[in-house]
Amino acid sequence: MSEPQPIYLSDYRPPAYRVTHAELTFDLDPAATRVKARLHVERHPQREAGASLELEGEQLTLRSIAIDGQPLGEEEYKIGGTGLTVHRVPETFLLDTEVEIAPDDNTALSGLYRSSGMYCTQCEAEGFRRITFYPDRPDVMATFSTTVIGDAASLPVLLSNGNPVERGELPGGRHFVTWDDPHPKPSYLFALVAGDLKKIEDRFTTMSGRDVTLQLWVEEENLDKTEHAMASLKRAMTWDEETYGREYDLDLFMIVAVNDFNMGAMENKGLNIFNSAAVLTHPHTATDAAFQRVESIVAHEYFHNWSGNRVTCRDWFQLSLKEGFTVFRDQCFSADINSAPVKRIEDVSFFRTAQFAEDAGPTAHPVRPDHYIEIGNFYTLTIYEKGAQIVRMLSNLVGEAAFRRGSDLYFSRFDGQAVTIEDFVDCMAEASGEDLGQFLLWYSQAGTPEIDAHGEYDYANAEYRLILRQRTPATPGQSEKQALHIPVRLGLVGTKSGRDLPLTLDGEALGTDAVIHLREDEQEFLFTDVSEAPVPSLLRDFSAPVKLHFPYGREDLAFLQAHDSDGFNRWDAGQRLALLALDDLIAAHRNGVEKVMDSRVVDAFRGLLEAQIDDKAVLAQMLTLPSEAYIAEQQPLVDVDAIHAARTFVRQSLALALRDDFLRIIEENRSDAPYAPEPEQIAARSLKNVALSYLMAIEDEAGLEIAQQQFAADRNMTDVRHALTLMVHSSRSDIADPALKTFGERWAHDRLVMDQWFSLQVTRPQADVLDRVKFLMEHPAFSLKNPNRVRALIGTFANQNPVNFHRDDGAGYRLLADTVIELNRLNPEIAARLITPLTRWARFDEARQELMRAELERIRAEELSPNVYEVVEKALA
Ligand code: ARG
Ligand code: ZN
Repeated sequence: MSEPQPIYLSDYRPPAYRVTHAELTFDLDPAATRVKARLHVERHPQREAGASLELEGEQLTLRSIAIDGQPLGEEEYKIGGTGLTVHRVPETFLLDTEVEIAPDDNTALSGLYRSSGMYCTQCEAEGFRRITFYPDRPDVMATFSTTVIGDAASLPVLLSNGNPVERGELPGGRHFVTWDDPHPKPSYLFALVAGDLKKIEDRFTTMSGRDVTLQLWVEEENLDKTEHAMASLKRAMTWDEETYGREYDLDLFMIVAVNDFNMGAMENKGLNIFNSAAVLTHPHTATDAAFQRVESIVAHEYFHNWSGNRVTCRDWFQLSLKEGFTVFRDQCFSADINSAPVKRIEDVSFFRTAQFAEDAGPTAHPVRPDHYIEIGNFYTLTIYEKGAQIVRMLSNLVGEAAFRRGSDLYFSRFDGQAVTIEDFVDCMAEASGEDLGQFLLWYSQAGTPEIDAHGEYDYANAEYRLILRQRTPATPGQSEKQALHIPVRLGLVGTKSGRDLPLTLDGEALGTDAVIHLREDEQEFLFTDVSEAPVPSLLRDFSAPVKLHFPYGREDLAFLQAHDSDGFNRWDAGQRLALLALDDLIAAHRNGVEKVMDSRVVDAFRGLLEAQIDDKAVLAQMLTLPSEAYIAEQQPLVDVDAIHAARTFVRQSLALALRDDFLRIIEENRSDAPYAPEPEQIAARSLKNVALSYLMAIEDEAGLEIAQQQFAADRNMTDVRHALTLMVHSSRSDIADPALKTFGERWAHDRLVMDQWFSLQVTRPQADVLDRVKFLMEHPAFSLKNPNRVRALIGTFANQNPVNFHRDDGAGYRLLADTVIELNRLNPEIAARLITPLTRWARFDEARQELMRAELERIRAEELSPNVYEVVEKALA
């Protein structure tokens, strides 16, 4: 195999030919599906006449080809490389092809494949070329008319994009449905589903009075898991009307749940296809977190109808144009209907752990990359989450009203077009009058900027001088970095009053909470009329995706945790305080010195437990220590054992010191009310379960009793799973093993619950867990062909069990590499994703570095898919 070659943004050219209308006919068969395509093709006005027609195609067997009704001779076209070339074509013509494809051989789950007997498609980014020969790129937008033919008995439901326009019987027990999608779309938004599905249906009237039918299609046994997704969809539709003035544009909106899916979900026009884990919920099978995740993914895919579908990406380098914007939209939606500070805390803790690590590793890339080998590798936290942070900064920079004017302008100016990130930012600049030139650097410069801040209070002159210095570390291919435009939201909290002090900067009164703009490498901000010594509260609400260093003392942090008016920073101050204590304990562990608990952390926790904080969800977050992964992110060199030992020590010390408070919290937050996925109930459950975790950290008798009762009471999956996890993670196999068995037998028929059964076992901290992973890989319910199962077992072990994955004998690494090697053949996209923890080798000690690199080398010696090749090459570069 020749080495896969990168594609460059700078090489972009419009396509030589475009398709204005596509007529497709699918004759479904598991081994030999026939796809007929009639494409209405014309030369692109910006391209020269006489160019050859080049169509992408992969794994297709061509049965016939004709132009304007004339079959082509073999010498008139060529198949090879990435598809089909026809040397001489007219300016405008009809291209007819017929190809054969084999859905049952499709284990990559890209293109047309079968999942639990049903046919479904995944075309983003480049899956349509596995269905038919086509200019498979997002800047070719066509209307589609699709006829699906299948066996009437086994495939009673035949779906595609748009509206159904015709259906009928065919000989041989077959039937067909024809679908028309009047909105021009790129091929990546094409979808087809065929199977024995059942639906729930609802209606929605849009703001302009259009009546829309909403359908959710599932396997019959899942009909009782659809209610929440449908309710979420309607909430999302209303929210987008109220917040962005955007309404739905077809008569029908469908969601289908499939069991085998590489990602969360896909926004195909009018026919969203979802991983069943991202849409199905029931109080007894899904946790609160799963309910909230479903709500946000349903909203995300729905929001794409405007940010992605009506206005799409010119090329895949612009992926964050739709993904960053849409994640920002779904984050705001979730914040509006749940607890906004908790949503922000959750998003930021995840971001600072996982995206920061990506941005500091060998696969770091800008939010708009300038080259790639395999676009499937770029559905990353950087494109999605950092992209969303950038849009959030834009919204804060220009203000809410101008942001809305800018988005209105963007949607109206570019409706029906495939555009670039500049087009979006230009609309924001135009609507606000702001100069966003320097801001654009956020899209092209990779790496997490770090701000070193320090400040001095001048008592005599009542001035506070704040000095900010920025630097962005080098990333692969980018050694020199420029200064970014960084909005820093801040307040000065008076140490006497505990209140935000009025801010006066350069003679201008800014209120008590303001945004300052860091644009230089180093900048000084002099606040005047500062009546008392302040502690600065910086980067409020995480106003920019950066690391902020300020030499806070522990008293400062305890003070901010108690007094900051910004909920996010109050939480963050507690995290920083805990991190300082954890640092000492990590050092103590490494030096073999006795560990001593910092009493200030205990006092801070006691303060939290005693203060009457009314947002229980926020309190639960504040009582949660930074994760091992986030602690690791702060260390110069990751020592997983020391981190685990230090964090365990803090949890146990807090549990011993505050046992009665935790017990009281559990008592106060127990409830017999029927389950509802509502913010108040979710908050109470999370608070109670955090408290229970502390008691179980010391295997307190009362705690063990509560966990067992909570498991047996079987009120909802949130409580059951939490209790079971705590038991399984304890040393008490006498109570854990029977519970695990009961649970496994009870839910053997339910895939989504069994995924949880797999994953909660492999996060056990005990040293025997690797054997458990191996044992579970042999379990009849485990399959490498199901991405959810692979993620539940292997992904969870490698990413969420640092002490055991990083065993010093390298057995964890070996297991992961073995899995990657097998998956490389079956499902390259999932294989490439799974390698991530190995790519972080540089963060560990030399012995582990060597072991990890050896496994990467072993993978590299295989015949690799472009996906795995690209990741491994970067990791070893
Ligand atoms: N556009 C989908 C979303 O809503 C993700 C699809 C990614 N597909 C893939 N094969 N990588 O985020
Ligand atoms: Zn998306």
